[in-house]
Amino acid sequence: MARTPLVAGNWKMSKTATEGAALARELRERLGSLDRVEVAVCPPFPALPAVGTALRGSGIALGAQDVHWEKEGAFTGAVSAGMLLDLGCRFVILGHSERRQHFGETDAAVQRKVRAALAVRLIPIVCVGETLTERDGGETLAVVARQVRAALEGLTGADLSRLVLAYEPVWAIGTGRTATPAQAQEIHGAIRRLVGQQGDGSATQILYGGSVKAENAAALLRESDIDGALVGGASLVAEQFARIVEAARPG
Ligand code: PGA
Repeated sequence: MARTPLVAGNWKMSKTATEGAALARELRERLGSLDRVEVAVCPPFPALPAVGTALRGSGIALGAQDVHWEKEGAFTGAVSAGMLLDLGCRFVILGHSERRQHFGETDAAVQRKVRAALAVRLIPIVCVGETLTERDGGETLAVVARQVRAALEGLTGADLSRLVLAYEPVWAIGTGRTATPAQAQEIHGAIRRLVGQQGDGSATQILYGGSVKAENAAALLRESDIDGALVGGASLVAEQFARIVEAARPG
């Protein structure tokens, strides 16, 4: 099954609304018309409206980096899926390892967020991945399987086709250390089999993330189960991000 590659930029806590709009305009200029590849940028909440305006009509989609599972109410500091949709978001990153590490996000919380996003037709980009200790302890597959199973629990086959997964080994995030294409492919294959246990996983895009750069993107994306990239640091530099998008475009 030919899956359209997706390259998503995770801006994390970088860029004000003004800076974000400038980066979006530069990206738009560099990328030109998009065909055979999907592109999204995920700025911090306050920059979403300005970046959305700057991207209008460009084909570059807008995404957020987190969401709360409730629709509204007394949840100070939280943002609902409906609010993101209203701002023109198409994607939302969920379960990023930094959320799990610094904000105590559990598998159960990720599961609730996935359902909240799907309920309004936002596309979740669900992040999974092992720490270095877990990898060294031979637990990679078990950890990833636990995270994937929890995120997908109770979803229907139709849900599975409206969801993106991202394998991001924690030891590769922001470290300059990337999984080798073979290491990544092994886990991506396992993730696709896990999705397959619950429905048809052949259309599900599975992204790789963790120190993806213009220099290593092509080799990773050549692997059969790597359908795109979730890019942190390199997504903040338009020229770098544009080169990764080029690497993702099928020849
Ligand atoms: P990085 O981040 O590309 O800076 O390693 C990736 C991510 O955390 O999504």
